[in-house]
Amino acid sequence: MNLPKQVTIMDVSPRDGLQSEVAFVPTEKKIALIEALVGAGIRHIEATSFVSPKWVPQMADAEALLQAVVARHPGVAFEVLLPNEKGYDRARATGLLKEAGFVVAATESLNVKNVNMSVADSMKQVAAIAEKAKADGVHLRGTIGVSFVCPYEGEVPRARTVALANQYFELGADEVCIADTIGRALPNRVYDVMADIKDRWPSKPLAGHFHDTYKMALTNIFAAMQAGVEMFDSAVGNLGGCQFAKGATGNVSTEQLVYLLNGMGIETGIDYERIVAAGRMARGLIAPLLSTDARA
Ligand code: COA
Ligand code: ZN
Repeated sequence: MNLPKQVTIMDVSPRDGLQSEVAFVPTEKKIALIEALVGAGIRHIEATSFVSPKWVPQMADAEALLQAVVARHPGVAFEVLLPNEKGYDRARATGLLKEAGFVVAATESLNVKNVNMSVADSMKQVAAIAEKAKADGVHLRGTIGVSFVCPYEGEVPRARTVALANQYFELGADEVCIADTIGRALPNRVYDVMADIKDRWPSKPLAGHFHDTYKMALTNIFAAMQAGVEMFDSAVGNLGGCQFAKGATGNVSTEQLVYLLNGMGIETGIDYERIVAAGRMARGLIAPLLSTDARA
């Protein structure tokens, strides 16, 4: 079996995990969640997103959140998600931006629903952001949403996802993340897409982001590791979803991923008991909100 010695886990619960909660989670509670994640050994966190607060009110406190956590934890990489150049400029203005995560969907339908732009227009934003990121010394990660199946267009051809990954790297992204936004991927397809990208860009970091709708996420992660992927996103408490992608449910849980990897002797640096406690806390954050949750 081709298994890595070490895997980097990025916990995305403060962003992907909370973004679609209808009732606003107070900034102090988001900070407490981040503290619990750091305490468990997480060193990569997708903290928030610099998106339109009209589109995603839950992320309206992006500036305040970064200001509260970044300086306290110099050893932690806090990534923020951006849909456009304006988001980059907002994040940069905090003086705390080190890791920028751009997102484009593999299909036109989902990209329009998510960011109100064509895929080509999103990639033009990447070109502009990549130039700024290089000048600013900011690490740029390019995520491809609905890399395998789109709720509106069905199965996404492998060549399309691979072409977008190529484009990201050609434009100057430091890392690419392949996302199964609605949790419909299967391991054979995951392996093929990841292996194609690894063949073309063997030394570039490649990450996987799997939602767990059909409980395939850990299997897909296993397949991605076979193809040489050593970085995965996950969210404590199975939190997550995307209000713009019909059918999107929670992310693979960080707790289960840590159990799997630590148990197989793959180094994560994360303490299982403490990440379970962080997951319990995260579920507690959204529990009082469930009655107002509009997701169906
Ligand atoms: N941060 C804050 N405000 C922003 C912004 C950003 N990154 N980008 C645009 N805006 C503001 C504009 O200034 C404008 O404000 P105004 O109405 O007060 O003048 C308003 O939003 C509309 O701007 P426009 O460029 O026309 O955007 P749009 O309405 O076409 O929406 C996005 C485009 C990208 C801003 C919006 O679709 C978005 O934020 N999507 C993110 C969705 C998301 O987070 N999905 C989950 C993650 S995968
Ligand atoms: Zn996601």
